[in-house]
Amino acid sequence: MITRILPVSDAGSAEGRAAIREAARVIRDGGLVAFPTETVYGLGANALDGRAVARIFEAKQRPLNDPLILHVANLADLTNLTDLTAASDATNLKPLVAVLTRAFWPGPLTLVLPRGQNVPPIVSAGLDTVAVRMPNHPVAQALIRAGGVPIAAPSANRFGHVSPTTAQHVLDDLDGRIDLVLDGGATPIGVESTVLDLTADPPRILRPGGVTREQIERALAKIEERLAVSDWRSLTAQSPHTMPLPSPGMLPSHYAPRAKLVLCRDTDNLLTRRDNFATHGLKTGLLILESQREACDNLHPQFVLGETLSDVARNLYAGLRALDSAGVDVILATEVPRSGLGEAIADRLARAAAKAVETEGNCDHD
Ligand code: TXA
Ligand code: MG
Repeated sequence: MITRILPVSDAGSAEGRAAIREAARVIRDGGLVAFPTETVYGLGANALDGRAVARIFEAKQRPLNDPLILHVANLADLTNLTDLTAASDATNLKPLVAVLTRAFWPGPLTLVLPRGQNVPPIVSAGLDTVAVRMPNHPVAQALIRAGGVPIAAPSANRFGHVSPTTAQHVLDDLDGRIDLVLDGGATPIGVESTVLDLTADPPRILRPGGVTREQIERALAKIEERLAVSDWRSLTAQSPHTMPLPSPGMLPSHYAPRAKLVLCRDTDNLLTRRDNFATHGLKTGLLILESQREACDNLHPQFVLGETLSDVARNLYAGLRALDSAGVDVILATEVPRSGLGEAIADRLARAAAKAVETEGNCDHD
């Protein structure tokens, strides 16, 4: 199969509209289209067509027990795809959904809800729940609208690999395996959406992401008196140093580069470790902040992520991929504070580092 690439720098331009029309045709015909969202690129298919959805799993080599996210362009779709009355306590679910969608949609918050009858079971790996989000990206929204169907889409990478934040990343993983890539440039947030399970009582964050725990808590605090859920505050009860609760398919080794990722306490620790790896003949790459540039002067290859948490989130996957391409054995990065967007970043760094432990045994070269 030849993978076509259509540029969409402006979803409203004549060129953009033509590209989106073509992509929508591919979706309606049961094909696979990679498209930008505000988080990462997704690999989309018609969510109501089980056979088209099966092709997503095949192209990504993703196990069938790892459920997908449905992408919608308006709130009415949520009603068609979920069954809010199926919950054991439906009276709680509706105000929760209303508040959260008002506060965060369109945006990087995925809600896990009881699955509606017309969603093929393959979408959510046979579970009786389904994950839904409304992406905040003009190309994603235009594609969903033009296709006229909800779009099932995981991140557009090979299973277990780092998510793509550019069209080139998508091609690096999936060229020849999918029909079309809409190239809308680099994705602005750079880490995936937050997955919030509303079928659990209290609601649980299954994956930290673009909407922060603090933002969700603030939104829920506003309707506290109307909520009968046991205690939504236990959203915060998780120890900040443990992985989020397991979501099906959330393996510790997700989001992994090929090189071994080693997390360091601070710049001194990073430089010491770099020396140690060098004496063992290993090639290291540095994933650093702007403020570490001077201390790491002349140490190459290096990738500078920027300075703020949103810089780091936006550039993290590109950095991991770039250092991988430079052929390093080891990527050294420093830990980030686990608050705000830092929780999602720390989660992805920990998962990327976990792969090294699994595949190479003890990685403690200190
Ligand atoms: O930002 C994003 O969420 C991107 C863009 C493309 O929208 N998508 C994405 O999809 O990251 P994916 O498939 O790579 O990750 C979906 C996550 C997985 O961890 C999966 O286990 C979880 O959502 N998930 C999906 N459906 C679920 C369900 N019914 N119950 C629990 N977890 C679910
Ligand atoms: Mg993924």
